[in-house]
Amino acid sequence: MTKLTDWLGRAVPQTSDLHPYVPGKPLEQLLRETGLTEAIKLASNENPYGPPPAAIKAMQSACTEVHRYPDGDSTQLKNALAKHHHIDSSRLLLGNGSNEVLELIIRCFANNDAQVIYSRHAFMVYALATVAAGAHGVAVDDDETLGHDLSAMLAAVSQYTRIICIANPNNPTGTLLDNNKIQSFLDQLPRDMVVIIDEAYHEYVADISSDSIHSLYHPGLVITRTFSKAYGLAGCRVGYAIATPDLIACINRYREPFNINSIAQAAACAALSEQTWLTVHVAQALGERDRLELALQERGLSFGHSYGNFVLLRHEKADVLHQKMELKGVILRPLASYGMADFLRVSVGTPEENSQFIHALDAVLAS
Ligand SMILES: Cc1ncc(COP(=O)(O)O)c(C=O)c1O
Repeated sequence: MTKLTDWLGRAVPQTSDLHPYVPGKPLEQLLRETGLTEAIKLASNENPYGPPPAAIKAMQSACTEVHRYPDGDSTQLKNALAKHHHIDSSRLLLGNGSNEVLELIIRCFANNDAQVIYSRHAFMVYALATVAAGAHGVAVDDDETLGHDLSAMLAAVSQYTRIICIANPNNPTGTLLDNNKIQSFLDQLPRDMVVIIDEAYHEYVADISSDSIHSLYHPGLVITRTFSKAYGLAGCRVGYAIATPDLIACINRYREPFNINSIAQAAACAALSEQTWLTVHVAQALGERDRLELALQERGLSFGHSYGNFVLLRHEKADVLHQKMELKGVILRPLASYGMADFLRVSVGTPEENSQFIHALDAVLAS
């Protein structure tokens, strides 16, 4: 028998430390595993109401042109975003989800001895992209709020630090940093540091938070946003970064040609024009989030307030609760991989889905 090749041994060294990102369990998988005929997924912080109607129409019409390559520079979408944010389009970089944008920035600025600082309780992709780039991650604890301890992050900065990542609001813990606090943090950093402020959930705090694009300043500031959450286009994969034109041009060297497909470009353009739809659905999500938080409080399962479209559930046997909820047809997100074994994250669904969650939770707690 031929000897199997040790591919991991042949791969670049950091491959051994890499673990694929584990997304929320797909509905179909749960149905297969349990034999249930119906289930709901509250595990990926999506907009449960579907894409905006104009985006559906735009995608349908874009379908007839998919024999052509897309506009590699996503000109129309960039122009629409530039107008929407009152900035020059040279300050924009588009990615296949903001996930790709984050990876491009980290690949561009970190390898070998470089360090990337992030919170231990922040979005997992910062750590994964850092390892993939062959750089070193520095995870900073915030035991008090499970968000970002900016003083501790500042203290962690060394001559090797190239990038600092901050998720605001944070996923998975829902904390929000005030932009004044972020600005005084930025003021204390070296001018040549890249600072990512990841605002994937910005639309849920747009009413209560100053607009970081026009209120924060640092030469290395990169603000990232996405069409995956409030805009209802998670399956299209469109995210973007806003920074100075020279910083964007530098990161752009890593971008693959045609990284935003033509259907996604059309959908995002149309979604951007649906601001009334967005406002209505954000308001609905926030109302439902408050209902879920109250339900968790009443059952002694809450942990602080979340500023995203998700809430944290705390239970000493979160893993058992998670399994039992799946048997009731409700998919939640376990957080053991964030060092938070006694937490589950619950995405805000439609009112009906949220009622179903509360009903299932009561049944499981009583069992
Ligand atoms: C904080 C944060 N940033 C970035 C992303 C990536 O989103 P996408 O790649 O869909 O834009 C997510 C997705 O869950 C997130 O929670």
